[in-house]
Amino acid sequence: ATDLAGLLSSRIRDVPDYPKPGVLFKDIAPLLADAEAFAALTRALAERATALGATKVVGLEARGFVLAAPAAFAAGLGFVPVRKKGKLPGEVHAQSYDLEYGSATLEVQCDAFTPGERVLVVDDVLATGGTIGASLDLVRRAGAELAGVVVLMELGFLDGRERLAAHLDGAPLETLVVV
Ligand code: PRP
Ligand code: MG
Repeated sequence: ATDLAGLLSSRIRDVPDYPKPGVLFKDIAPLLADAEAFAALTRALAERATALGATKVVGLEARGFVLAAPAAFAAGLGFVPVRKKGKLPGEVHAQSYDLEYGSATLEVQCDAFTPGERVLVVDDVLATGGTIGASLDLVRRAGAELAGVVVLMELGFLDGRERLAAHLDGAPLETLVVV
C-alpha cells in the first residue's frame, strides 16, 4: 500500500498538447489496461468506502464511472451515477458549474438515495474542482450525507482543493496521486 502512488503514477501517461496546444494531458488508459494497477486502485477505493462507512459509491460521468463502479462492487455497495444534463430519466436535481468558457450541468436522480445514506464520491481528476463541487451539492440535495471524496489524480498546481473546501463541509478529500 505504501507505494500505491508510485504504481499508479507509473501507469499514467503524459500526452503533450492534448486536447489543445500547451496542455499536458494525463492519460489513465495505461493504468486501466494494467490488471495489477487497476486492481490496486479498485481495492484502495473500496477500502476507503468501507473505512468511511459509505452505503453508496457515486461516480461522475464519464471517467469516474470506470473507477467508481468496480470500487462499489469490491466494497459490496451499490453504485449511483452523476450524469451530464439530459441523460437520466425521471425527476432529477440539476447543478451547473463554470468551465473555462461557459458552463456545464450535472444531474442526479431525486430517488437515488434513501434518507441517511452516506456516499463516497469518486472521480479520476481534481482540476478546478467544478465537477466535484457540483456533484457534492447534488448528493446533498438528493438527501444523502457525504462520507468523503476520493480522486485518483489531483492537479496540485490548480486551486481545486481550496475551491472544494466550501462544498466538503468537513468531509475528507483524499487524492491518491498528486501531479
Ligand atoms: C474531466 C475529469 C474530471 C473533471 C475535472 O471530466 O474526468 O471529471 O474534468 O475537472 P474540474 O476539476 O476542473 O471540474 P470531463 O467532464 O472533461 O470529461 P469525462 O466525461 O471524460 O469525464
Ligand atoms: Mg470527468
